[in-house]
Formats: sequence, structure tokens, C-alpha cells
Amino acid sequence: MAEPIVIEGQRAWLKHYGEGSRAVALGLLNFVARRFHLDALRPPPHRGGAGACGIEARRLLELKAQGVHVPEVIGQGDTVLVLEHTGDSFNACLRKADMAGRDRLVGAAIAAIAEAHRNGAYFGQPLPRNMTWDGQRVGFIDFEEDPLEVMDQAQAQARDWLMFGYGVARYYDDRPQALEAMLAAAMEQAGKPVVEHAHAVTGRLRRLARMLRRAGKSGRALAHAILVVHGASTFGFVVLAVLCLDLLGDGELDLFDLIG
Ligand SMILES: Nc1ncnc2c1ncn2[C@@H]1O[C@H](COP(=O)(O)OP(=O)(O)O)[C@@H](O)[C@H]1O
Ligand SMILES: [Mg+2]
Repeated sequence: MAEPIVIEGQRAWLKHYGEGSRAVALGLLNFVARRFHLDALRPPPHRGGAGACGIEARRLLELKAQGVHVPEVIGQGDTVLVLEHTGDSFNACLRKADMAGRDRLVGAAIAAIAEAHRNGAYFGQPLPRNMTWDGQRVGFIDFEEDPLEVMDQAQAQARDWLMFGYGVARYYDDRPQALEAMLAAAMEQAGKPVVEHAHAVTGRLRRLARMLRRAGKSGRALAHAILVVHGASTFGFVVLAVLCLDLLGDGELDLFDLIG
């Protein structure tokens, strides 16, 4: 839990680390992820308390050293951190933005994730609610869990694309092809093992995605994320751009039928 505070006139955040309480759900997800070889989706241990606080403090230092825009740790106790304010909630910004504004925000986030990956960084849960926007820079927060405890770096970076895709898919419900094109451009630059893993995992999830498409708004967001990341890691960007132009041209072509 994080609460906004003011220190010497500056906004900051006081983050408390309660005890972990999701053991059963995490155990189930771990079982499913192992059973179906979905390594990127394996949940890292959720420690809670001092363990979680220590992981977040360490990860924030690592990420800062890798050039990622994360909050400075202003103060630290056993189970609390005081963090620099890095901006408004990215989620709130996405909600308020119009279509062009959303594309700009999502484009900036994709560029920030891709650059961090190039520097060897990984996030874990780059969802819009764990990101900030100060009008210029995307900030990243919430690092209580370390995916490298259960997967390698390429799998963790693939996981980042899946998480991010899932987080923003709800804003592209009627334009998934636009999101796919932006992600595909980033995937062009990503490491081969990362793209291959993202492709393999989303490939195994495709049947599930087709069922989820009919399962309400969240189901559709998850389905779109799976299909969008799968598509983005399949085609070269140029091919995709042509397909999208085609789609915009007559509005008939269903990209997802092509992928499926
Ligand atoms: N450094 C920060 N700068 C700006 N907003 C923050 C910061 N830290 C936390 N927040 C806000 O508090 C919320 C919860 O913080 P987070 O670190 O994601 O904790 P939780 O584990 O509760 O999800 C975030 O979604 C964000 O809106
Ligand atoms: Mg969070």
C-alpha cells in the first residue's frame, strides 16, 4: 500500500509492505504456468513485509543504475520506503487522453521499456497502474517481486511485453491493430530469445484467447493482449503496416483471423 505524503514541500510516497497473502492463488498460477510451459507467466515469490521491502529497494537501485526512470529512495525502514514522486498515474492519464493522446502515451511507454531492455533491465509488472507520467517521461514503480527468482532475463523481458500488452489492451478494444503495430516495431529491435519466448507463450494461449474474447471486458482485454503480442512477434513491421493499411482501407480484413 502506498500513500501520498509531503516532505519539505515536496510530494513523496510512503510505501508500506504488509504480509504476503496470496499463496494459494500464486501456487495455482505456478502450477498452470509450469504445466503448460508458460515460463514468462510463472509468478515470482510474493514475500510481503521486510522481504518485499528489501527486494523493492534493491531493484530500484539496480534499475536506476541501468538508466531507468524510477523513484529515488528518500527514506527506508524495515517495512517502509519513502519514494520520490515521479508523476501522475499513467493509468489515469490513459483514461483521460483522446485517441491520439493515448497513442503518444503508449508509444512513449513502449520506447521506455525497449530502451530499458536494451540496457539489460527488466520490470516484472509494467502495467499502467505501476507506471507514471510527468508530461515528458514515463516512470516505473512497484518492484516488490523479482521475476529473476523464477525465470531468466529473456523470459522476464518477454513477460514485460505480455504484461504491458495486457495492461493497455483495454484502451485498444476497437483498434487492436494499432497497438499491435506499435508493439511490432519494438519487437523488431528486441533480442531474439525475448521475441521467441513471447511468441511461444502467446502461441500456447491462443485457444484460450479465442474463448476469452467472448468473456466480458477483462476477458477481451486479455485475449487481445495475447493475440496482439503474438501477432507483434510474428510479422515484420513492414508487413504489418501493409496489413493495417489494407484493414483501414476496406475495414474488412480481420487481422486476428489471419494470426489464428
Ligand atoms: N513514486 C511514486 N510516484 C507517483 N505515484 C506513486 C509512486 N509510488 C506509488 N504511487 C501511486 O500509488 C499506487 C500504489 O503504489 P505501488 O508501488 O504500485 O504499490 P502496490 O503494491 O500497492 O500496487 C500507484 O498505482 C501510484 O498511483
Ligand atoms: Mg502497484
